[in-house]
Amino acid sequence: MTRFTVNNKPIEYKMDPDTPLLWALRDASNLTGTKYGCGTGECGACMVIVDGAARPACQMSIASLEGTFVTTIEGLAKDRGHPVQQALIAANVPQCGYCIPGVVMSAAVLLQGNRSPSEADIKGAIPNICRCGIYPRLVDAISHAAS
Ligand code: FES
Repeated sequence: MTRFTVNNKPIEYKMDPDTPLLWALRDASNLTGTKYGCGTGECGACMVIVDGAARPACQMSIASLEGTFVTTIEGLAKDRGHPVQQALIAANVPQCGYCIPGVVMSAAVLLQGNRSPSEADIKGAIPNICRCGIYPRLVDAISHAAS
């Protein structure tokens, strides 16, 4: 049994301790905003915040998270009210939308530590892959969210 906190609620997963967090969130907690893309830690679709850092949920076993604080896109802000979400909506950044939860989590962590990121800061902090090619609008929107 593994115990940690998800979106400010203590949780115990009675699953194989090697289960990736991504599947515990999606299958046991019905937190389906965290997406599966590559399963290898490359695409960022599954990005969540663990103890203040953006981390790919497909690459962390639930056993490795004992005692941590995990935030998913569902717990980031009520009614899509996070400044990053508001900026992305205002700038019509999402296209298909699949990568957006992970992008938001990466950007939220960036802005926690840097309130005036440069374009290079943004590109360096958002490793997420988007097949729709939203990157130019995304950089503009995150810059706007930071200002
Ligand atoms: Fe986790 Fe791609 S699904 S990084």
